[in-house]
Order: sequence, then C-alpha cells, then structure tokens
Amino acid sequence: MSNGAMPKPEESDRADAPRHVAIIMDGNGRWAAARGLPRAEGHRRGVDALRKVVRATGELGISYLTIFSFSSENWSRPASEIGDLFGLLRRFIRNDLATLHADGVRVRVIGERGGLESDICTLLNEAEDLTRNNTRLTLVVAFNYGSRQEIANAAQRLAREVAEGKRDPATITTDVLGSYLDTSDIPDPDLIIRTSGEQRLSNFLMWQAAYSELVFVPIHWPDFDKAALEGAIAEYATRERRFGGLIAKNVAKTGS
Ligand code: IPE
Ligand code: IPE
Ligand code: MG
Repeated sequence: MSNGAMPKPEESDRADAPRHVAIIMDGNGRWAAARGLPRAEGHRRGVDALRKVVRATGELGISYLTIFSFSSENWSRPASEIGDLFGLLRRFIRNDLATLHADGVRVRVIGERGGLESDICTLLNEAEDLTRNNTRLTLVVAFNYGSRQEIANAAQRLAREVAEGKRDPATITTDVLGSYLDTSDIPDPDLIIRTSGEQRLSNFLMWQAAYSELVFVPIHWPDFDKAALEGAIAEYATRERRFGGLIAKNVAKTGS
C-alpha cells in the first residue's frame, strides 16, 4: 500500500459481496519449509501478503477485514518464533500505520492485551487511536486472541454484575452476551477463509462464526493474493445462506 491512495471500490454494489471477510492466515511455516527457508522467512513473507490483501480488500469494497495474527495457543511455540511474530507485528505497525491511515483504514485490535509487552500495547493503542475516525475499511487484528477466552471474559463480567446485584440473570440474552465480546461493535463475518488446506477454526471467532460461510483454500498464506481472495469471494457468492430459514423459492413451494 505504498503507491498513494487506494483506488475506488470496484464492486461495492454487488448484492452477493461479503461485508465482512475474516482470514485465518495459515501455512507460513510450511511455505518456508517447502523452500528450505527458516520459518521466520515464511512469517516475513506472510506480512507482505497481508499488505497486498488489505489493499485488495479495500479495492473490492469490503467494509471489514479480520485477520488472525496470533492465537492464545500460539504461546506454546518456541520463544524464538514468538519473538519473530511479535517483531513482525511491531514492524508492520511502525512501517504501515501511516499508509493505512492515509488509505482510510480504521484499525481495531481484538484479543487479550494483559500480559503483552508494554511497547506492543502502546503500538496497538496508537494504531487504534490514530485511525479511529476512518471509515473506508475496518481492519480487525486478532492478536493474542482466542474465542474461548473471549467468551469466558464476557461471562466473568456478566457474573460480576449479577453478584453485585446490578443485573438479573434473565437479562443475559445472546445479544447481551454478544455485546460483551471484543467484537461488540463489529458485524459477524460473512465469509471466513482459511489458507494452507487446514479445515478448522482453531479457536477463531467461534461465537461470531455461527452462520459464516467457510472457505478453505489449499495455498499457503505467503502465496495468497488478490486473485485468491476473489476466488474465495466467488465461492462465497455460490453459497445459499439460509440462517435456519428457507430461501425464497422454497418458501413459494410450500404454498403457504
Ligand atoms: C500462520 O502460519 C502464522 C501463525 C500461526 C502466527 P503457521 O506458523 O501456523 O504456519 P504452519 O501452519 O506451521 O505452516
Ligand atoms: C491459527 O493457526 C492461528 C493463526 C493463524 C494466527 P495455527 O497454525 O496456530 O493453528 P493450528 O495449531 O494448526 O490449529
Ligand atoms: Mg499453522
């Protein structure tokens, strides 16, 4: 995203275009191993892919892009790899924040901030503060994020309110619980893409994914590009979203 402002969205009026795309950026390590390179090189190339995909997302008129960049379970990796991943996040924000801001991208970060090094927290806050009023694309960075932790945190806050006599347990509806999640101000993803061929959520947006369309692509994240994104969106466009109901043509067939 270094050559000036993003061009105008190409397809924002397409009825079948997803409003929110979420991506599990997987396969950096295997991409590197297949080339005899260190895993860190795969992660570095993964950031290059991210940069291009953020730009492509804006061009396609998508309003929200969520990226899974570090899971709460990724702490079980070797310290050196965790250091590489944190170093890349630092560099991504330092190098790209001004361009993201100039391109009208609003940055939101979800996940646990407690336990992160203070300079990382400062950078994440700075990215959110600087871009707060941008409206072109919201880039949601899931960093140190896990769905189970997110839901447990919401349950703790609600339980505290009940214990303090501030809340009747009967008021804890799905909407209320949803409003206590990190994503309270973000619509549910329409499309979740996972690269590298793995077919699982790995603790990503499990509450929010209740009715998301899932698309699994066989390529590793460093090779993912605008064409691959468009391919996933084309696959999404063939899906029939029913949300537990019936689609119009079947409603007509029931004769009611
Ligand atoms: C995704 O690539 C990046 C993160 C999980 C942070 P991986 O590092 O998981 O790559 P593989 O799955 O080992 O190939
Ligand atoms: C999911 O990928 C986490 C991110 C992409 C940040 P992993 O590589 O950590 O997931 P598993 O361990 O294969 O399920
Ligand atoms: Mg992986």
